[in-house]
Amino acid sequence: MKATAKAHTNIALIKYWGKRDESLILPMNNSLSLTLDGFYTETTVAFNHDLTEDIFYLDHEQISGEQFTKVSTFLDLIRSYANRPGLFAEVRSINAVPTAAGFASSASGFAALAAAATRALDLSIDDRTLSRLTRRGSGSACRSIYGGFVEWEKGSKDDGSDSFAVPVAPQKHWDVRVAAVVLSSDKKKVSSRVGMKRTVETSLFYTSWVDNIPTDLKNIKSAIQDRDFERMGEIAEANCQKMHATTLGATPPFTYWHDTTLTVMQTVQALRTNGIPAYFTIDAGPNVKVLYQPENEEVIQETLRKIPGVTNVIVSRSGQGVTYQ
Ligand code: DP6
Repeated sequence: MKATAKAHTNIALIKYWGKRDESLILPMNNSLSLTLDGFYTETTVAFNHDLTEDIFYLDHEQISGEQFTKVSTFLDLIRSYANRPGLFAEVRSINAVPTAAGFASSASGFAALAAAATRALDLSIDDRTLSRLTRRGSGSACRSIYGGFVEWEKGSKDDGSDSFAVPVAPQKHWDVRVAAVVLSSDKKKVSSRVGMKRTVETSLFYTSWVDNIPTDLKNIKSAIQDRDFERMGEIAEANCQKMHATTLGATPPFTYWHDTTLTVMQTVQALRTNGIPAYFTIDAGPNVKVLYQPENEEVIQETLRKIPGVTNVIVSRSGQGVTYQ
């Protein structure tokens, strides 16, 4: 009744932004991501008949409060799926996702938790079912089940049974690099969960965002198959800006960008003017992720590190899906 799993985080090139069902975590639109090798969570789940409640350790520290509740609520879902009510677990997670890198550790966290918990209970489930269960912890986490490029299909059923991720191209398909550009900034003020809800409920631009997704998806999938870096980058960069535009049309309006965020965006665009293909994407925070090809690693790193207000640049390659120890 014990298992260990490792999952990597992912960066969305076509963003998930908005839910049609808050409690089942069903998205308004399909999204597409690249799993990253640089950031992961490793989790051991040990179910034990002697326990009277779950216990959760993160980086060797026992966790209580909201973070614990999220883990325990997710285990309730697994218990109910496995028909094992009252069987509690000790969960030990190690996060190799520096919080300051601006990556949500919830993606790798819930993917590793779902994988370890289902394996510990000997449930023989396929990747789609694992992704579907993982989705209930955090939406973007359902894409971290697979390596390489991954699409999360929003599905059409009210019960969420057809909303899960599927592989688009494996890790070895293409060596694309992603630099996480870390800015010196305070903790973000609006979480992705709160931000997307406000956007869905109030943004004047939200319908256009949803309407445009099938076009962006179709085009980026063909660029990925063709390994056409510039086409992929252009679509990803534009999709990110459309997502962030929806936040400015919300009531009250908000943005995740800081002054240095804009400086990094402009620096990336200037790199292109100088013949270096590089493209940015940004999630629900101020940090920027820059996509580039291996031959430009040196110039990209050097340029990004020089920007005032940039505290770190962390490089990732295409990563693998869930693995078990
Ligand atoms: C901007 O997956 O963190 O990173 O489903 O509410 O847990 P919940 O939200 P979350 O949202 C991620 C939003 C995003 C875009 C993306 O990763 O697709």
